Amino acid sequence: MRELTVSTAEEMRALGERLAALLRAGDLMVLTGELGAGKTTLVQGIAAGLGATGPVLSPTFVISRIYRDGRVPLVHVDAYRLGSRVEVDDLDLDADLDESVTVVEWGDGLVDALADDRLVVEIHRSAEDEDEERRVSVSPVGRRWDDVDLG
Ligand SMILES: Nc1ncnc2c1ncn2[C@@H]1O[C@H](COP(=O)(O)OP(=O)(O)OP(=O)(O)O)[C@@H](O)[C@H]1O
Ligand SMILES: [Mg+2]
Repeated sequence: MRELTVSTAEEMRALGERLAALLRAGDLMVLTGELGAGKTTLVQGIAAGLGATGPVLSPTFVISRIYRDGRVPLVHVDAYRLGSRVEVDDLDLDADLDESVTVVEWGDGLVDALADDRLVVEIHRSAEDEDEERRVSVSPVGRRWDDVDLG
């Protein structure tokens, strides 16, 4: 699943569920892609895959939300309004990132300090507005992913 075409929002959630199966406590995922690309939709799938039951809403106005009822807590951060590099303290998270899966929208270049290892997911929207198709690339950074089969 390094490079794939995702045709619908439902497929994007299914991809999130597949990725969730690979995730464990302490993992960081960084999601990039323009407004409406499907980042939050992917997180909905990740949450479902982890077994969290609450509806996943865009955390834009609250910076972060934590879903605790899955097999591992999910910390969902939206860094859109954070103009500069994010430090753990800035997020003021009521969660231990070592014990959680952390997924950051708009975190590219901002969250590198959170973890040496991370999974970067880039979502590209095709030119035609009506088209639901997205191109997705999944790029592992760091040794954590050496033995993980990303397909
Ligand atoms: N293939 C697709 N993958 C993901 N979402 C899709 C797809 N096709 C259509 N959509 C729709 O596009 C929208 C994506 O919105 P979403 O909130 O997930 O984007 P986002 O990247 O989180 O945006 P923002 O930058 O505002 O946070 C949803 O309404 C979703 O149903
Ligand atoms: Mg979003």
